[in-house]
Amino acid sequence: MINTARPEHTRLAIVAALQEEVSHILEHMHSRKCETIAGRNFWTATYQGHAVVIVLSGIGKVAAAITATTLVERFGVHEILFTGVAGAINDEVSVGDVVIGTNFIQHDMDASPLFPRYLVPGYAEIAFQADTHMSQRLKRSSAKVLSQLERTISIEIVDQFKLQGAQVHEGLILSGDQFVSDEWVRQGLRQAHSNALVVEMEGAALAQVCKDYGVAFALMRTVSDGAGEHAAIDFTAFLHAVASRYSALIVEAYLNDVQ
Ligand code: ADE
Repeated sequence: MINTARPEHTRLAIVAALQEEVSHILEHMHSRKCETIAGRNFWTATYQGHAVVIVLSGIGKVAAAITATTLVERFGVHEILFTGVAGAINDEVSVGDVVIGTNFIQHDMDASPLFPRYLVPGYAEIAFQADTHMSQRLKRSSAKVLSQLERTISIEIVDQFKLQGAQVHEGLILSGDQFVSDEWVRQGLRQAHSNALVVEMEGAALAQVCKDYGVAFALMRTVSDGAGEHAAIDFTAFLHAVASRYSALIVEAYLNDVQ
């Protein structure tokens, strides 16, 4: 992980892929102002002394890259925090767990034989890194929220999605323009990247833009499905009942973490 720790007053962007993940946060922001650029609503606000910008990225790597570039160029953000959901690749990761990305690979990048598979041409390494300072803070916030789950999420939901004992993991995340809902595809990803924890569709693109601009980046994903045949059903149900709540609680804990 790279470390670009910055003072507290720097402008932070909170980015999510879907409305449900930020609606709760937006409701609690004061003096909100909205600007629409490239079809996206960028909400600027102050939250507990933090200058923040909140935006939905849309789905996929290109949408994520447009969003991150706009945040840097037009809003001058210094830090980007992404919150969303992901499918489990590793057997140690269960639905309801939270994964903090330490590094990110574009699993659908293949310019071989000109370049090594997965390497984005022009870069020295296959994986893009998260910011250490932000990620540690995100890990503390996630652990805090999970340890108090019964206080914030109804017991029916905790039981339905078996959230009891949910854990925080940190490690490699795979990103690609593909919703993985096939056991063979999942197994293929596991074989190619044995230490990968989850698969999603935006993280590595955001990390690439942040690397190019020298902006700090961190990402947390709540595990919504097992990336197998039931992924789409699990995903939708989970998103509404759990992920939106988790995201709001973890981002709030992150902003309040002054360590
Ligand atoms: N986001 C959440 N679940 C996912 C999956 N199974 N594949 C890709 N992105 C996801």
